[in-house]
Amino acid sequence: MLRGKKIIVGITGSIAAYKAAVLIRLLVREGAEVKALMTPTAKQFIAPLTLATLCKNPVPVEFFNPENGAWNSHVSLGTWADALVIAPATANTIAKMATGVADNLLLTTYLSARCPVFVAPAMDLDMYNHPSTQYNLDSLKSYGNRIIEPAEGELASGLSGKGRMEEPEKIVEYLSQYFSRKTNLEGKKILVTAGPTIEPIDPVRYISNHSSGRMGYAIAAELHERGAEVYLVSGKTALTPPDGVQTIDVLTADEMYQAATQIFERCDGAVMCAAVADYTPKTAETHKIKKDSSETWSLELAPTQDIAAAIGANKGNRLLVGFALETDNEQVNALSKLEKKNMDFIVLNSLKDKGAGFGTKTNRITILRKDGTQTEFGLKNKTEVAADIADEMEAFWGMDRS
Ligand code: C5P
Repeated sequence: MLRGKKIIVGITGSIAAYKAAVLIRLLVREGAEVKALMTPTAKQFIAPLTLATLCKNPVPVEFFNPENGAWNSHVSLGTWADALVIAPATANTIAKMATGVADNLLLTTYLSARCPVFVAPAMDLDMYNHPSTQYNLDSLKSYGNRIIEPAEGELASGLSGKGRMEEPEKIVEYLSQYFSRKTNLEGKKILVTAGPTIEPIDPVRYISNHSSGRMGYAIAAELHERGAEVYLVSGKTALTPPDGVQTIDVLTADEMYQAATQIFERCDGAVMCAAVADYTPKTAETHKIKKDSSETWSLELAPTQDIAAAIGANKGNRLLVGFALETDNEQVNALSKLEKKNMDFIVLNSLKDKGAGFGTKTNRITILRKDGTQTEFGLKNKTEVAADIADEMEAFWGMDRS
């Protein structure tokens, strides 16, 4: 499974750095092309020569060679690789990765990497359990990085607990499984809507909602990673569009309707994740509305077009996935939307659930299908939730639909 794969192993300053030698050896034995990168502290634990010999490539540590000024390009390393595996990853490097600090070659390579990134933490149990480390690991997950959880057992400090870097054999197994994932999304064209819409009242004010767009962006990134051609129609968010995904920015429900329905004509499926306004001001004033404190003021609203319903109405046997964010009567409301909008399955999240809904990095979902079956998932970060939704889409397309 790893034959021909280009893998960068990034080694940081932990006693577990010696295990990186075994990891590189195993990856090379599997047929992978391996380059190693070390942080300056990692050199105190294991010699670059050992790793260079095992991976048959020089092991850069600095941005340039002080002897001759030759430049070690983090950008070309980051774009070369099919996977970047940081093993061992110290609490220090994890914190820097979480905040975007780029003060060594390994970190700049991480920031430039377009490939999947795997992080195998190694540290003492209290460092691992510290809220800041856990927070940083959650941030890394929310960026789409995959954490290879440390094992429990004896630690270098003499203490015992969770923090031992996972064994090299297990890391290789993890990578092999990742690369052998079944995917039938190759070549599928998929529309994803995400984020809030903004309905102008006048040039200054508008009606909108709390959607951050995170869930839709995570879905777009996951589908792209699985080989789909993704069109992301996005309302206003603070997020950077995922690499390789074609993003169409819109503001209002009407603009989203126009873009989404037009793009869907050439798509095989759609995931409607946007929080679209149900009503919009009947007229948007061209001048700022002046205050008159002596009067109450009412705003006349007109219904917007339901994008999901319009797509559902003429989708044929193409796939339509919807979302339902409910505060009460969750199941009944979600099922009625599923039916009314002719969806194949709907993803329900309840605002009652802690950690689910707007602005959070996590979500807890239930998938309700047209055939009446449903699957409930636990609290996960939005990248993992996106993978569960993508699995469900793969299952839909995996079925014989002739
Ligand atoms: O009816 P409700 O807005 O709760 O339905 C939610 C689902 O419908 C979501 O998938 C949402 O993206 C989609 N929707 C839409 N266009 C609208 C309203 C909702 O696509 N105007």
